[in-house]
Parts: sequence; structure tokens; C-alpha cells
Amino acid sequence: MDISIREGILTPDTFAGLRAACGMPELETALVGRAIESSLFTLSAVNGSRTVGMVRVVGDGAFVFLIYDLLVVPLWRRRGIGSRLVEEAVSRAKLFVPPGRAVVVSLFSAEGREGFYSRLGFTELPAAGLGAGMQCFYL
Ligand SMILES: CC(C)(COP(=O)(O)OP(=O)(O)OC[C@H]1O[C@@H](n2cnc3c(N)ncnc32)[C@H](O)[C@@H]1OP(=O)(O)O)[C@@H](O)C(=O)NCCC(=O)NCCS
Repeated sequence: MDISIREGILTPDTFAGLRAACGMPELETALVGRAIESSLFTLSAVNGSRTVGMVRVVGDGAFVFLIYDLLVVPLWRRRGIGSRLVEEAVSRAKLFVPPGRAVVVSLFSAEGREGFYSRLGFTELPAAGLGAGMQCFYL
């Protein structure tokens, strides 16, 4: 398996293609473009000329780092690519803060994927001293 992790090459078309390959509904192209542009960084897992996985990190580059849209196409799963993308995202987030200062990286796990993230060092919330993550949807 020859996979390289590359930063900043993700395009809206590739994002859309990865979502489609993962069976996810299509998103508005203009919004996908804004999402990529507004991300702190994106990482793509590349095999030859083909992108087989991605992750993006959003936030303020100082105190807030949020992992979003971790995707690996089905044929390439269970080979460690998703883990590499998360580990690399955390490593690169660390570069935003001064040496010796901790970086806090957060994410929302898909239902049932909590164990995957726990093995990568994430704490499931709520936990001692930390409340649950919360969301609201407005129409
Ligand atoms: C979640 C997702 C990104 C994981 O990607 P992946 O490339 O399969 O991730 P990894 O290969 O690093 O790890 C997946 C599993 O394979 C196992 N694995 C890794 N390398 C392996 C190998 N060589 N042989 C067998 N198993 C292996 C891991 O231990 C892990 O096990 P777990 O599911 O019990 O935690 C992928 O399943 C996906 O895109 N899912 C759909 C979208 C989604 O749910 N995204 C997450 C949103 S929070």
C-alpha cells in the first residue's frame, strides 16, 4: 500500500466524490468550496493520482481545533488510513501553538465509532470534569 498524506490539495469535486463513494448525500458545491477555503487545513490520503481519504480541521488556529469530515472510501478501509489521517491532523494542529503548549483537538464521533477515536487518544464525553458535546439544528 503506497499512501501519502498531502495537505491543501482537496478540491470541492474530490470532496464530493469521496462523500459519494462513502454513500453520503450530495452537498451544495458552493458550500463545499467555502468549507474547504475556511478550514484551517485539509489532508488528503493519496494513492498515485487517486484520493482515497480526507480529513479537515476547522477552528481558530489558537484554542479551537475541530476534526471534521474524516472519510476513507470503502475499498481502502481497515488499512490504517483513517488512523493516519487523524494522527497527522493532530500533529499538524500542534504546529499552530507555541512549543510546550497543549493543543485541544475535538471531534464528533459517528455513532458507534467512539472506540476508533478512543484508541487514538480521544476521550469520550461526558467525562470527569467535562460535560457532553451538544448541538442544535435550526431550519
Ligand atoms: C471511520 C473511517 C474513516 C475509518 O477509516 P479506516 O481507514 O478504515 O480507519 P483505520 O483503518 O485506521 O481503522 C479502522 C479499523 O480498522 C482496523 N485496522 C487498521 N489497520 C488494519 C489492518 N491492517 N488490518 C485489519 N484491521 C485494521 C483498525 O484497528 C480499526 O478498527 P476499529 O474499527 O475496531 O477501531 C471509515 O470507516 C469511514 O470513512 N467511514 C465512513 C465515514 C465516517 O463514519 N467517518 C467518521 C466520521 S466521525
